[in-house]
Amino acid sequence: MNFELKPLTLVGVANEKCDVLVLLVQQDFKPGKDDLSLLVAQAVKAGDLGANSGQMVSLYRASQANAPRLLLVGVGDGKAKQVRTAVVSALGSVKASLGKKLVLAFASAAQEDAVRAAVLAVADATYSYTHAKSKPEPRTVQRCLLAASNASELSASFDRAVATVLGIELAKEWANRPANHATPTHLGLAAQALAKMPKVSCELLGPKEVAKLGMGSFMAVAQGSDEPLRFIVLRYSGAAKTKAPTVLVGKGITFDSGGISIKPAAEMDEMKFDMSGAASVLGVFRSLAHLQPAINVVGLIPACENLINGRAVKPGDVVTSMSGQTIEILNTDAEGRLVLCDALSYAERFKPAAVVDIATLTGACVVALGSVRSGLFASNDMLGNALMSAGERSADLAWRMPLDDDYAEGLKTNFADVANVAGRMGGAITAAKFLQRFASKYPWAHLDIAGTAWKSGAAKGATGRPVGLLVEYLMDQAGTK
Ligand code: BES
Ligand code: MN
Ligand code: ZN
Repeated sequence: MNFELKPLTLVGVANEKCDVLVLLVQQDFKPGKDDLSLLVAQAVKAGDLGANSGQMVSLYRASQANAPRLLLVGVGDGKAKQVRTAVVSALGSVKASLGKKLVLAFASAAQEDAVRAAVLAVADATYSYTHAKSKPEPRTVQRCLLAASNASELSASFDRAVATVLGIELAKEWANRPANHATPTHLGLAAQALAKMPKVSCELLGPKEVAKLGMGSFMAVAQGSDEPLRFIVLRYSGAAKTKAPTVLVGKGITFDSGGISIKPAAEMDEMKFDMSGAASVLGVFRSLAHLQPAINVVGLIPACENLINGRAVKPGDVVTSMSGQTIEILNTDAEGRLVLCDALSYAERFKPAAVVDIATLTGACVVALGSVRSGLFASNDMLGNALMSAGERSADLAWRMPLDDDYAEGLKTNFADVANVAGRMGGAITAAKFLQRFASKYPWAHLDIAGTAWKSGAAKGATGRPVGLLVEYLMDQAGTK
């Protein structure tokens, strides 16, 4: 979809030809003398666009607009959250007849956050997954014009929002694809396709290269499947080579059966989403290619299936990770940390300014935080605070979790340097403590997105999180606001 931002007063908005015109009306709306203003003023006076956001008046072929459908929607104080709810309910109400061109206009001066929220909400409400459908129903809206009288002040946040949508949609696309359409090989090809964009390059490692690097932990997970593993290295080079990069590491388990410690059958299909961390890394690179900030970013994706064949790793097996630390694999379903730990060791070679891993790592994190906030762990407060505030600014929320050493007690074992699981308690934290052992050489953070990366039930599908948070964080690092 093509987004555009235009400085328009309500007179201009009324003249804009389109299929649907959505007018967002703040509480403090001051009408002009034009017809559209007067119409809105009447609706406000009648109490139809009150303080509660989402209150809506729907008109057909109104003379005050150059569109068959006109929706006046109340957005209360015009804050991001209000705007999001209003846009989602407005578009939901005309879903069947959205047409090709949508105009979304702010009746009063728009706030930066609100513009961002509007762009993301339009994209989300009109998203359509079509891959592998014999009769695809692609998104109907092709152009979305955002109009606000103060548009000239909003272009930076608008551009960032549009770039974020590109990233979110790429992440959703890959996370939504079933495991047989999103193998490690396919993910490698997706990364190579990204490398066609400016300043992006990609290197793919296969089983031989990974063996040579000594990634015994990653290989142990991959050995239970006939699909060959991939270790994907993406680079975005927007600054001088001497500038230390931020490294993003995305868990790329393209299907998680649990291995020999097999998962229950119910909802096992959802484990196709276990590469959502990897998908978010691909998405962030898409956004970076669009925004071209002056930073360096490396993306690492250890990708494989966690399956069960005659060579599959067994509970009790001990493997040697790239770091040299030996690991007793007590539960083959705790595979995410086994692929991530080798990627974290690999990250050292970039002498990174910071490393952030993103993983659908634990069911325990879903229990702790539900689907509202991602779990955020950080060995460094500056990094932790920066990620936390990037989440708030982008409305892609996280919550800081603890990393006290006492939580690592349960990872002790008589048979190796460390076990891959501790007891049932504090499972999201013990997983993070395991990872921390491999991330001692640089400031490190870990985002557990098990609860936020996808939705279950009728609206089952990937959310594209935490692309918004990460893009915001990286743009902040680039010194752009
Ligand atoms: N991919 C899962 C985590 C997960 C579970 C994400 C449910 C989203 C929903 C991960 O590989 C896993 O299986 N973790 C285990 C760890 C346990 C064996 C210590 C879990 O959370 O049950
Ligand atoms: Mn698992
Ligand atoms: Zn998993």
